[in-house]
Amino acid sequence: MTTTSEQQPANAALDELRRRKRIISEPESDARVEQQHARGKLTARERIGHLLDKGSFEELGAFVTHRSSEFGLADKRYPGDSVITGYGKINGKPAYVYSQDFTVLGGSLSEVAAEKICKVMDLAMRNGAPIIGISDSGGARIQEGVSSLAGYGEIFMRNTLASGVVPQISAILGPSAGGAVYSPAITDFTLMVRGISQMFITGPDVIKAVTGEEITHEALGGADAHAVHSGVSHFTLDSELECMETIRQLLSYLPPNNLDDPPMGEQDDDPERADDGLREVVPQESNRPYDMLDVIARILDHGDFLNIQREFAPNIIIGFGRLHGRSVGVVAQQPAHLAGVIDIHASVKAARFVRFCDAFNIPIITFADVPGYMPGRDQEHRGIIRQGAKLLYAYAEATVPKITVVTRKAYGGAYVVMGSKHLRTDINLAWPSAEIAVMGSDAAVNIIHRRELADSKDPEAARAELIEDYRVSFANPYQAAERGFIDDVIDPARTRPLLIHALDALQNKRDTLPPKKHGNIPL
Ligand code: HXC
Repeated sequence: MTTTSEQQPANAALDELRRRKRIISEPESDARVEQQHARGKLTARERIGHLLDKGSFEELGAFVTHRSSEFGLADKRYPGDSVITGYGKINGKPAYVYSQDFTVLGGSLSEVAAEKICKVMDLAMRNGAPIIGISDSGGARIQEGVSSLAGYGEIFMRNTLASGVVPQISAILGPSAGGAVYSPAITDFTLMVRGISQMFITGPDVIKAVTGEEITHEALGGADAHAVHSGVSHFTLDSELECMETIRQLLSYLPPNNLDDPPMGEQDDDPERADDGLREVVPQESNRPYDMLDVIARILDHGDFLNIQREFAPNIIIGFGRLHGRSVGVVAQQPAHLAGVIDIHASVKAARFVRFCDAFNIPIITFADVPGYMPGRDQEHRGIIRQGAKLLYAYAEATVPKITVVTRKAYGGAYVVMGSKHLRTDINLAWPSAEIAVMGSDAAVNIIHRRELADSKDPEAARAELIEDYRVSFANPYQAAERGFIDDVIDPARTRPLLIHALDALQNKRDTLPPKKHGNIPL
């Protein structure tokens, strides 16, 4: 085939481009890729491939190289440096992504790596799309000193400004140490994989030197540690592929930004579906546990529920589901764990979730069965007053559609907190098994009839009679319904259709907060 003289230089330029792109797409070293795979980890590029819709990734900044010349770095340039950045689609919708490359200087954050990350964060913000960060890094690039620290500062700043504007998701797929952990901490959801992910402010060596305590990396900051003890992570997975699938699933419930509504799902589960089994879920005996996850599954579309922070404070349940295709955030007590009491962890867990839903226009459905706040010196001294107030504040502040169903107990302050009418909840329903009172019958009788019982010839018989009187008078939903604090007492079997009707009625809800710079939530 003959070529024109004009095509010749153009092709040469294209060849040069291809040569450069080939270098970029080739790994820095095969040995490092093998090492990554041997640890059960994918490469930064492979991760993006699994996260985004097939073939949708467009890379930005692949030609960027670091500017360091000290510590022998002058001759070592890595195209793209230690992070791969760009955009693509997830579930057909735009998403921005960065993925740290551990094969380049341990994924350490250089000045230019930070600039690349900031660029996609800025684009995500300007274009109202979620940003997903994949961390696998030894932290600040030691050779670059304060320039690297400045890069972290720029990222933290953007994380904070993006909070409540676009969903931010962090997948920790390797080490994340030192101050670097604060970027994921500010984002909305953090995912960790067993045996791969580690997060800590200071590692085991520093801990041993400072306090003498010996602990392994995994026990200190592995996926299970942060799922069960700290609540830092929201999802614990067994593999990186499962992690990517969970991110895609999570995003399917979320709007791309705070000005949009969440995406509508399929409307292929009967909205009028009643469930007689719900009439039998709550045991006759008020202190017997039952599984609230069973209640939730019977009510949501197809029983699908994305349970968030499932291992942390399991006495409260948070997560996403759908009602006739509409995304909803569910907050519910779990009577099968600590009787569903609200302790510090439960309050903080649910409060952050309520605020997320409120920021992103996701209606909140609350199922309350709560005996109260957790008593005891430990909780008091750790600040349950301040920490417990967070959930109250979050519910009171939320202006999205709010619907509450009291399935059984709603006692004392916890009654008020769990989406009561007094906190601007739109529709409050109760099952006939609801007990809405200042406290349980036993405790109430012991307090208000103390003297009478002390003087009684047969205190046990007198107590039993008084408890029954109290139960009949107060341990039911009707006093609250008479005052309008409960809008209706319903047949449990019809909970799903009634919630769907209420969501329909609330779909154009407009409610606001008084003008202010921001509130001062008790932190
Ligand atoms: C530059 C780094 C690096 C870093 C690792 N490397 N961390 N280069 N800066 N921070 C390089 C190593 O020199 C090595 O290069 C390659 O990456 C792989 O590292 P290895 O140590 O061989 O890997 P591994 O045994 O898997 O250990 C990974 C690790 C360890 C646990 C992350 O490298 C480590 O402890 N790194 C230092 C972590 C740290 O203290 N970072 C600073 C945290 S403070 P070669 O060429 O030899 O293979 C921080 C401040 C943030 O980040 C503040 C924000 C405000």
